[in-house]
Amino acid sequence: MKENKFNLPSINEARRRTKCAAKIEHLEFKIPEDIKDLGVGRSYFIRTYGCQANERDSEILAGILETMGYQKSEEFDKADLILLNTCAIRQNAEEKVFGEIGNLKRLKRTNPELIIGVCGCMAQEEATIKRLLSKYPWVDLVFGTHNLYNLPQLLKNVLFSKEKTIEVFSKEGEVIEDLPSSRLQKHKAWVNIMYGCDKFCAYCIVPYTRGKERSRLMEDILKEIDELIAEGYKEVCLLGQNVNAYGRDLDIKGGFGALLEAVAKTGIPRIRFMTSHPWNFDDQTIAICAKYPNIMPYIHLPLQSGNDEILRKMNRRYSAKEYKELYDKLKKAIPGCSFTTDIIVGFPNESDEAFKDTLDMVDYCQYDNAFTFIFSRRKGTPAYDMEDAIDMKTKEERLAILNKKVAHYANLANQRFLNTVVEVLVDGPSKKNPDIYAGYSKENKLVNFKANNVKIGDLVKVKITAVKSFSLDGEMIEDK
Ligand code: SAH
Ligand code: SF4
Ligand code: F3S
Repeated sequence: MKENKFNLPSINEARRRTKCAAKIEHLEFKIPEDIKDLGVGRSYFIRTYGCQANERDSEILAGILETMGYQKSEEFDKADLILLNTCAIRQNAEEKVFGEIGNLKRLKRTNPELIIGVCGCMAQEEATIKRLLSKYPWVDLVFGTHNLYNLPQLLKNVLFSKEKTIEVFSKEGEVIEDLPSSRLQKHKAWVNIMYGCDKFCAYCIVPYTRGKERSRLMEDILKEIDELIAEGYKEVCLLGQNVNAYGRDLDIKGGFGALLEAVAKTGIPRIRFMTSHPWNFDDQTIAICAKYPNIMPYIHLPLQSGNDEILRKMNRRYSAKEYKELYDKLKKAIPGCSFTTDIIVGFPNESDEAFKDTLDMVDYCQYDNAFTFIFSRRKGTPAYDMEDAIDMKTKEERLAILNKKVAHYANLANQRFLNTVVEVLVDGPSKKNPDIYAGYSKENKLVNFKANNVKIGDLVKVKITAVKSFSLDGEMIEDK
């Protein structure tokens, strides 16, 4: 099969940034007459890897497919269309996806009509496309993160011309509004406030796979949230790779703080946001977090490293001291706030002393939880070529030491809830035991609790009776 008829991505192209803001297009999403019912009698299954940006994209893909008449299949191997919405953040994330694509060969053999599609961040990488073309010929469709809206046309091409179809744009286009979406949950919702990332942390592939920072208009975000409230949603999580940069590209006055305040004023019971880069976290935003009780007292504040030299090499734009100052300010302003973080160990040439600085920072912040990773080389990023004398065994040992510390503080942080009453938004019966319900507290603690007569989406009071490192146990109490 010839490659030149495909639209292939280029990391070099993806690296470039233009000064002008992205256009915002309010699309009246219409599927052409000839393919409007293409999905009738067919079913789909979407498997999602990676972060919330992908989770949200999968809801939009599901919305588009359902508009075409496709029905959601509960079982992977019964579907007529399988989409893998992939993540490129670390090598092991990618290998997992390639393993899955490998497994699909068997399904394709037993059902030649099956359409297999690969989309998401991996599809934005040149190397992935090459590997797919040469080693995984049973993949029918590949598209990227910038052209979800084109799925109907792409499917038409695959189904009618029976040809492999690849369409990946290296660069972002307009911000497209008003795409259909089929949300996974009916009580809490992801809401994109911006796309892309301009931070270019030296290790990270996201600025290349997701394009430049593009904010949505405040009015579009608020309209979406008003609709969610009308549908009975209790919680929204505002999504961006770096929410504190919200509105800068459009010169929106007050930036993220102003947006957050407007969302708080809608009266939705619970507001969360992810992720806050420490660099742009301004005082106005902190004051707003402190002022509105429906902004949840929970902040994910990625640290990455506690050492200035490594932070500089990572291009994180803050020092350990600045991070600490921000943490102190937040902790003081928002009583009872819980904090989580992301940490990378084994960044190129990270010394024992540098690693110790990270451990010291964990001692200082005593996080409620931390997501910890061993540095993974991503082709096309600045850190890909950095010299590294640290062997994998040392990195693994450091990860184990760090994880032990993280678990210790997670447990300690949870102790503060023992015998207290917390408010929980009910997610549903627990998977393991249908008599036990699960949900999250305001502080984003997973709570498993005994209850009668509760429904998904109820806000209930739970007395905490036992504490584990990564969850709380309790019993519902009736409101008096
Ligand atoms: N925009 C978010 C991060 C998204 S990626 C932020 O800046 O906070 C989630 C996490 O994956 C990062 O915080 C980082 O800790 C980790 N990560 C990203 N690239 C990585 C790499 N190449 N190797 C190891 N971990 C990585
Ligand atoms: Fe990656 Fe840094 Fe952007 Fe986060 S802020 S997505 S870590 S480049
Ligand atoms: Fe992965 Fe892409 Fe998210 S690389 S972490 S799915 S933005």
